[in-house]
Order: sequence, then structure tokens, then C-alpha cells
Amino acid sequence: MNVNYEAALEVLAQHRQTHVLRFYAELPESSQQKLLEQIRLMNWEQLEAALAHSAFGQAPASLSSSLNSTASPTDLSVDPFADLAPIEGYDWEAFSPEEQRFYEEKGWQLLKTGKVGAVVVAGGQGSRLGHSGPKGTFDIGLPSHKSLFQLQAERLMNLSSRAGSTIPWYIMTSPDNHIETLRFFLEANYFGYDRKSCMFVKQGVMPAVDGAGRILLAAKDEISLAPSGNGECFAVLHREGALADMQRRGVDWLFYYNVDNALIQVADPKFVGVAAHFNHPIATKVVDKASPEEKVGIICMNKNRPAVIEYTDLPEPLMHKRDDQGKLVYGLGNISIHVFRRDWIEQQLGSDLPYHKAHKKIKHINEQGHEVESDQPDGYKFETLIFDYFPRASEITVLRMKREGEFAPVKNKTGIDSPESARQLMYNLHRSWLQQAGVPLDQFQEPVEISPLISYSGEGLGGE
Ligand code: UD1
Repeated sequence: MNVNYEAALEVLAQHRQTHVLRFYAELPESSQQKLLEQIRLMNWEQLEAALAHSAFGQAPASLSSSLNSTASPTDLSVDPFADLAPIEGYDWEAFSPEEQRFYEEKGWQLLKTGKVGAVVVAGGQGSRLGHSGPKGTFDIGLPSHKSLFQLQAERLMNLSSRAGSTIPWYIMTSPDNHIETLRFFLEANYFGYDRKSCMFVKQGVMPAVDGAGRILLAAKDEISLAPSGNGECFAVLHREGALADMQRRGVDWLFYYNVDNALIQVADPKFVGVAAHFNHPIATKVVDKASPEEKVGIICMNKNRPAVIEYTDLPEPLMHKRDDQGKLVYGLGNISIHVFRRDWIEQQLGSDLPYHKAHKKIKHINEQGHEVESDQPDGYKFETLIFDYFPRASEITVLRMKREGEFAPVKNKTGIDSPESARQLMYNLHRSWLQQAGVPLDQFQEPVEISPLISYSGEGLGGE
């Protein structure tokens, strides 16, 4: 046995994970080296912190995500939602036309002077959708067959060309999909985007574990790893030089969004203008939840701080609670569209977010070395979540929008939040744009898809 093996065994013993080397003796040398290298590179402190925070083997999974900063992870007597309250926000539709023009103009000024960048978090695995490639490469079946990435690129290009200044675009990938994402962009010639203004930043991974906190093996020579959550975004932007790039370019505001929203208005001037006007560290776009059970987080106040409570964590009675007018008390849905002030992002660096455990189906090998692929969640992944930054801001700007123009998530293969529902939402929206532009639509029944290169949000269609 070599020195590396002894060192690996010692580290594993310290962390009660020696089973990782169970098949070592029967592996060819190249596989042995691969496994030892994985063990050497593992951030063991981080794993210990994640296991401790999630109170492994003690807390029920449903409570894990709410075990934030103040409550001790093992103290189940503390109700994490005892101090929940609705949050105040602005309603775009309630602004007067003059106010709307004022905010939009402010956003355009920032775009014209290069003060706005955009980051898409695209490191997730998209397992619910059943698409094997990176989610952004997914074709939702529009007549144009544009991928999610292409729709986003073209919306950014529309704004960039009207602003006369290219919006820098940061794309967060993970080791799982980095190469494939790069290849996709290269093969499509970046969809025409200025390559010097596109930057790919790769996030890290965490090991997956079983119910007892023991690392799962993907193969006899491989630890099962999963992307470590979108909460890594700021640290990754820093580590990969994107924050320095923003500083160099003079970007003050970073528009953050999920890869899977087919209607995303990337770098929306209206929203950027509102965010900059109120000048809080964070601004977030919200929409009314479609139903109490909709699988979106809610934006609210918790213990007098802004917060997002994830759909998996919100207790039923709060989910259904209504006010005197019959409106949901916690009805502002998180659509993962935020604007962060860059200087504030920089202040957050170096202070870690807590890891949450997520109960998932994880393909792995069992003690006998046989592959296990369950149709039920059978392991845990660890993730940090971007909205765990929210309580760190004493105040945030909340902007409520009409959901028809903003949110068409592509999460499931069929039904709700599927490619089909996203397509339909886009057709409805584009049809409404044409109607507003005075185009008679009664004649044609076909779906209407308008290229983002022609119109970003309905403008320029009336021949004006
Ligand atoms: C997310 C929000 C939820 C919100 C919903 C709106 C989180 C944790 N939850 O739910 O509150 O209502 O969007 O659609 O954000 N990602 C990475 N790296 C990772 C993990 C995820 O880049 O390690 C990216 C994904 O690619 C995706 C985004 O983060 O773009 C959110 O993904 P996911 O964790 O699946 O959260 P949702 O269930 O979509």
C-alpha cells in the first residue's frame, strides 16, 4: 500500500468514512489513483459543517432547510416560523405612467453606461425534466426551436444593441455540465453574442450521503458528487474572476436569474431602474402565486428580516392562510429574479452560507458493489441557497409584476411547469403583444412566436 493510500485512510477515519475505500483492493491502479485524488481534494471541513448543520440522523428532512443561523440545528422545539410576517412591496401596475417612465428611463441610463451585468445560475442538474444535457440547452419546442440559452442571449442582445453597450453575461455552470455548456455556445457561435462579454464560471460540488451521513459511491472508484447549490454564486463569481471583471467594467448592479424561466426578461430596464432608485442591496421581482400549493418559495419577513421560505418548508396552515379580503397572506412567489448591488456582494464574501440537505434520488452502488437506482429519494445532497443572503440585508426592494409577462418555468417533463405550459404562456404573451400593437389576429390560429431580436417586451410591433 502506498503513502497516498495511508493518508487517504487516515483522513477517512477522522471523518468516519472509511467505507469509501471498500473496493480499493480490487481496483486497477488508475482507478485507485482516481479515488485517492478525489479523497485528497475533498473539502472535509465543509462536509463536516454540512452534516452538523443538517443534524444528520436527528432532524426530519422537512425541517432541515429552515434550520437557519439563529436556531440550533438540533433544537426542534424552536418554531422557525413563529415570527413570520408579510413583506411590503411595490406594484408595477400601481405606479403612474410617469413613475413607470421614470424607472424605466433610469434602468436604460444604467444599461447605456454599462452599469448592469447579468448572471444565470445554470449549474443545477435538472433531473425532474429528464433532459440529459445542461438545462439551458433545452429546446422547449417553439417553432424556432431556440434553446433557453438562445432566448436569453437574444433578449440581452436586443437590450445591448438599443443601449449601445454590451451587457456582460456570466454563466454559472457546474463540473457536471461545464464542458457541454461551453461546447453548445461554441457550436452556436455564442448565438451572435459578443464573446468577450460572456464568461463561464464553474461552481463546486459536495458529496452525496445516505441517511446516516455516509458518503455514497457513484462507482467503486468514484464518490457521488452533486453541485453545491446556487448559494455558491457570489463565491464562484469571486473565485473565477467575474467580480473583478465587473469591477473593471464598472458594473454596479448584477441581475440574477434561473436558467429555466422561458419568459425571463434578462436585465429588464424597469426592474433595474426600480432597484437602483431604492438602492437597497437586493431587489426581487415577485408574482402572485398561482395557487397556495404552487412550488415556489415565498418572499416575506422572518424575525424582522427579509426572507424566502422555500415551498418545501412552508407549513400548510401558513401556505393557505388568507386575509380579510380572501388574499393569500404569504402569496408573493419567489421567481428567482433578483438584482444585487455589486459592492454588497463583495461584502458577503468570506462568510459562508449554511448547507441545506435535500432528499433526492441518487444513483449509487451499494455495499455489495451493485448499482442502485431507486424511484424514491434514497440519499441526500447538500446545497447552499442564494436566498439565504436575504436576511443579511436589513431592507430589500420587492417589485410585484403581472406573472403573464415574467414567469414560465420549465421544471417537469409534462403538466405544470413543463415545456408545453411554457410554450403556451409564451404564445399567449406574444399574441397579446400583437393585439396591443393593433394587429388583427382573428384570422390565424397558429402559435405566435416573436423573436427577442425583434421585440424584448412587446415594443416595436405596431409599425411605429
Ligand atoms: C427555485 C427557488 C424557488 C423559486 C423557484 C422559481 C432555490 C433554492 N429555490 O426553485 O424558491 O420559487 O426557483 O422557479 O433557488 N442551480 C445551480 N447550481 C446548483 C443548484 C441549482 O446553478 O447547485 C440553479 C439551477 O440550474 C436553476 C436554479 O439554480 O437555474 C434553481 O434551481 P433549483 O435548485 O432546482 O430550485 P427550484 O426548485 O427551481
